[in-house]
Amino acid sequence: MANHSLEAIRNAVPAILPSLLLCDFGDLKSEVARLVDAQIEVLHLDVMDGHFVPNLTYGMPIVEGLRRHTDLPLDVHLMISDPLEYAKPMADAGADLLTFHIEAVHPEEAAETAQRIRELGVGVGVALNPETPLSTLARCLPMVDMALVMSVEAGFGGQEFNPIALEKLRAIREQYPDLLLEIDGGIDTSTIEPARQAGCDLFVVGSAIFRQDDYGRAIGALSEAMTSRSGEQQEAPRS
Ligand code: DX5
Ligand code: ZN
Repeated sequence: MANHSLEAIRNAVPAILPSLLLCDFGDLKSEVARLVDAQIEVLHLDVMDGHFVPNLTYGMPIVEGLRRHTDLPLDVHLMISDPLEYAKPMADAGADLLTFHIEAVHPEEAAETAQRIRELGVGVGVALNPETPLSTLARCLPMVDMALVMSVEAGFGGQEFNPIALEKLRAIREQYPDLLLEIDGGIDTSTIEPARQAGCDLFVVGSAIFRQDDYGRAIGALSEAMTSRSGEQQEAPRS
């Protein structure tokens, strides 16, 4: 089944993805409208179970609620212990791409996990934390649509960028020239460009957007920084 939303994510590259973790959940519909006004094309949803990571966020009801109010592709980051337990409910709720953490499965089960998620008709990504060696992804990278390289330990926004992520991005890009690459954690106007130069396609941003009053201005600055050296043209968001 052609996954049109996955194509939409690919077509958005290079893209800034606001991470829905530090946003105002008491006014989510308006928050999404503000992001759409800033010409955001993909949303990143941080699902945490309080077990795989020491933080608890939200599940299918929020995904369903977002699905009702936006057609933007929903890139769902599963920071949960048993990704296959919730993959189908999340896909049914409206997720377009489901990313599981390699640390949450047995390495020899990662390829099968990816395959079973893809069979749900959604895109599949695999994520790894800064301390996790790239070698753990070897068997499942050929099975996924995206690799999510964490530049912070999964669990919280507002952490400091870990440059180990840049080495991993370069190594994956060299071996998989067409794989979607995403980076997540500590992305701001000073770290987004090195990540782009390392071959990254999708840039998840939390505090560098949601801790600013003017989302359009923040996203415009990030977009400019992202393409500063590569000279790629980006449409300036309406402020
Ligand atoms: C952390 C989440 C990230 C985080 C990004 O576990 O996966 O998406 O919210 O927030 P910043 O950009 O503030 O590091
Ligand atoms: Zn995330």
